[in-house]
Amino acid sequence: MSAPANIVFLGPPGSGKGTYAVRVAERLGIPAISTGEILRQAIRAGTPLGREAQAYVEGGKLVPDEVMERVLADRLAQADCARGFILDGFPRTAAQAGQLDRALAARGAGVTHAVLVEAGEELVLRRLGGRRTCPSCGAVFNLDTLPPRREGICDRCGAALVLRDDDKPDTVRRRLAVHAEQSAPVEAVYRQRGLLHGVDGSAPLEQVVAGIVRTVQVAAAS
Ligand code: AP5
Repeated sequence: MSAPANIVFLGPPGSGKGTYAVRVAERLGIPAISTGEILRQAIRAGTPLGREAQAYVEGGKLVPDEVMERVLADRLAQADCARGFILDGFPRTAAQAGQLDRALAARGAGVTHAVLVEAGEELVLRRLGGRRTCPSCGAVFNLDTLPPRREGICDRCGAALVLRDDDKPDTVRRRLAVHAEQSAPVEAVYRQRGLLHGVDGSAPLEQVVAGIVRTVQVAAAS
C-alpha cells in the first residue's frame, strides 16, 4: 500500500481551492477538508465553536490559531484521514503550519505536497461575485462558470443555494488583504522543503484538476 498523501491547498480567496480540492480528493480516494466549511457549519449549528468563530469569519479575519488547532486535531483524528487528506484553507499562518507538522509527526507522517492555486485579484473578485454555495452540504457553484442544473438549487442535495455572508464586497477586500499579509511565510515553509507546486487557477476546471492529480502522482512516485 502506498504512503498516505497529506496535501495542503494554499491560495487567495476565490482562487478555486475548494472547487479543485473536492475533485482531486475524489480521484485520489481521500477526504477534502475545508476548515472554512467546518467553521460555517458550526456557525449555522450555533455550537460553541461556531459562536467563538462567527465574528472573525463574518468580518473576513482569521480565527485565532489556538481555536484552529482544536479544529484541526478533531478532524484529523477521524478515521477517513488515515489514508491521507487534502486540507483546503489550512495552514494560513506559520504557527498553523507548525501545528500541522506536530499533529502529523505524532503519527509518524508529514505534509507530502503543498499546492499553491494562483489567481489574480480581478479573477477572484469576479468569481466570488458569482459564487453560490449550499448551506446544507457545502457544494460550490458559480452563476457564470459552474451553474447548478436547476437555478438556485443544489445539484447534490436539493437545498436552496445562498451567497456566503463573507462574500460581500467589503469582507472580500478584507479577506484578500489578510491573505496578502499572511500567505508568504506559509508558502515559504513548503517552498524550503521542496513541496510547493504552483498551479494556474485561471485555467479550465478539468485541466487544473488533472494537472494537480498528475503533480501529486509524479511527486509520490519519484
Ligand atoms: P475559506 O472558506 O477557506 O475561504 P477562502 O480561503 O477565503 O477561500 P474561498 O472558499 O473563498 O475560495 P476558494 O479558493 O475555495 O474558491 P472556490 O473553489 O469557492 O475561509 C473562510 C473564513 O473562515 C476565513 O476568512 C477565516 O475567517 C476562517 N478560516 C478558515 N480557515 C481558517 C484557518 N485555517 N485559520 C483561521 N481562520 C480560518 O472558487 C470560487 C468560485 O470560482 C466558485 O464559484 C467556483 O465555482 C468558481 N471556480 C473555481 N475554479 C473555477 C474554474 N477553473 N473555472 C470556472 N469557475 C471556477
